[in-house]
Amino acid sequence: MAGLFDDIEAGDKSRITELRSLLKEYNRLYYVQNAPVVSDFEFDRLMRELLDLEKQYPDMADPDSPTQKVGSDLSKGFRQVSHRYPMLSLDNTYNEQEVIDFLNRATALLEGEEFEICCELKFDGLSISLIYHDGRLVQAVTRGDGVKGDDVTDNVRRIKSIPQKLEGKGWPADFEIRGEVLMPWDSFERLNREREAQEEPLFANPRNAASGTLKLQNPDIVEKRQLDSYLYYLLGDSLPYAGHYENMAAARSWGFKVSENMRKCKSTDEVMDFIRYWDTARNDLPVATDGIVLKFNSLRQQEILGVKAKSPRWAIAYKFQAEKALTRLNDITYQVGRTGAVTPVAILDPVKLSGTTVRRATLHNQDFVERLDLRRGDMVWVEKGGEIIPKITAVDMNSRDTDAVRFEFIKLCPECGATLVRYEGEAANYCPNSNGCPPQIKGRIGHFISRKAMGIDGIGPETIDLLYKNGLIRDFTDLYSLKSGDIAQLERMGDKSAENIVSNIANSINTPFEKVLFALGIRFVGEVVAKNLAKSFHSLENLEKASVDELMAVDEIGEKIAGSVVEFFADSKNRDIVEKLRMIGLKTESDNADDYTDLLSGKTIVISGVFRNHTREEYKEMIERNGGRNSGSISAKTSFVLAGDSMGPAKKEKALQLGIPLVDEEEFINMLNLN
Ligand code: IVH
Repeated sequence: MAGLFDDIEAGDKSRITELRSLLKEYNRLYYVQNAPVVSDFEFDRLMRELLDLEKQYPDMADPDSPTQKVGSDLSKGFRQVSHRYPMLSLDNTYNEQEVIDFLNRATALLEGEEFEICCELKFDGLSISLIYHDGRLVQAVTRGDGVKGDDVTDNVRRIKSIPQKLEGKGWPADFEIRGEVLMPWDSFERLNREREAQEEPLFANPRNAASGTLKLQNPDIVEKRQLDSYLYYLLGDSLPYAGHYENMAAARSWGFKVSENMRKCKSTDEVMDFIRYWDTARNDLPVATDGIVLKFNSLRQQEILGVKAKSPRWAIAYKFQAEKALTRLNDITYQVGRTGAVTPVAILDPVKLSGTTVRRATLHNQDFVERLDLRRGDMVWVEKGGEIIPKITAVDMNSRDTDAVRFEFIKLCPECGATLVRYEGEAANYCPNSNGCPPQIKGRIGHFISRKAMGIDGIGPETIDLLYKNGLIRDFTDLYSLKSGDIAQLERMGDKSAENIVSNIANSINTPFEKVLFALGIRFVGEVVAKNLAKSFHSLENLEKASVDELMAVDEIGEKIAGSVVEFFADSKNRDIVEKLRMIGLKTESDNADDYTDLLSGKTIVISGVFRNHTREEYKEMIERNGGRNSGSISAKTSFVLAGDSMGPAKKEKALQLGIPLVDEEEFINMLNLN
């Protein structure tokens, strides 16, 4: 018998070692690479397994174990700063009984004293520590390894909701406030759409996007990405109140963004009600949350309860389960995008997830496939945590067939047979046959007509497909010679829609130059870059002659973009296309350099309400053309609100409170001397 126990013990101990190295690697992928490969749930499950085993084998204790240290986000390129108070993590649980156990344990330690639990949302971003001195932000540091973090002050100064200077009264001369930096869902989706259009790797979720953004070395890009924040923890020697909830209310009055969705509860039932309510209500929030945090409200009781190695005893996180499902991976297919980037897509046994049936999931790129080490027939976990595309988060190794065959990434383009290439420093494999590979040709046409480019309505991907199949278009210049008779003959097309399409195409001739430039689909030239290039070069003719150095002199244009522009114009086929567009009469130069003024220079303007004379998009464009900056939310830094009809009451109230003027459409147009 002894032999058997010895075997079990040896097995457990080697599992401890295995779990430690696995969890360390998962921590690194999550916190440093911003590219997690397992779900939070799976990570927490493995951590729990390790904790249980460590409890069973105290002789294996190791201060370096992931159970004893918070995952580190320290990265190169930032100065490291020590935290005044260690930045801890939270214990977490996925079930109600453990919440009850937590409350009972703490009550016992408090010898039956009465208590209040502050329930609040657990925001899913990255933690930040902000230091204020005499009411001014002096330093912003990431959690790092909990003892020291990265100094990201310059980037944090570009987050609108984080005050540089405090309002109100009663703030201590020196204090620290902690919270979460987040990317709201709408900014996240916009960013991913832009990245998709540029065929850049997508961020898996808003947390990774926020974390990747905060670790950029360019504060201007940080500002563009529109990060947000919620603060939830005040620290210092002379805090105004003896309760956490009350201190957070004070912080709110000083100008910090503190969630209104906090509640002090006196009983387990109240706590459970709060949890159950938010498990569904959180779907309507503008930012990602992954649970509820329960905190003993009294700071005195927090002190009595104290802290453990990496988490306090006075708080716990109840985590919501991301909806996920186990299904079979039948195959991997490959999609070729407009720039030739090849994306592997998992073909799955259909499975129900968050109300829809999932049949496919993105596998991003070759590295992702190899990291998951996928085999045909594997049972895989699919998740849809609010992200656009479902993703595979893990493989169920227990059900893998021993003879399952590993997927080899393709070497030839599945559409045209060209040999794929992988450029240095890029994750994607590309089909280089850009002028002969159908999805690339059709993709470029689709991009050309898209809303943010030429904005030609009425032509969806199926119509492009039909036009292409019938030999009516070979590139987007052919759109301008289409006759309604040609289109009306196609399947599912009537005379009326054919006429509409032709007239929409004809109307697109007046599209401004910067959009024409964007519509060309030059690799890495997104909407913002196209705007900057149009502003600096004024015409395709000038751009065609520009050198890499001249291009790099423009705002936000680095070597990669400059190289791509030069490469585009070096190709005679592209120059022919540009020439054809010029002949057709498209705007290949700015109408007038006077379109751009400095009338709104230095002004931050929020657009709110419904307008009669122009669309919101048009007003946004006017603001930018005139040197202003359009922002989504009202803060002390807002210069004025361009207010239409039925402006939201909350926004109106906020503008009023901060003394920010409201400017109506007519006044605004007057301002720009447009009437
Ligand atoms: S309190 C000592 N409150 O969750 C505990 N944390 O998994 C201080 N988080 O590191 C944290 N929302 O980054 C607290 N309302 C909230 C939170 C919150 C999100 C994060 C925080 C923490 C992590 C633990």
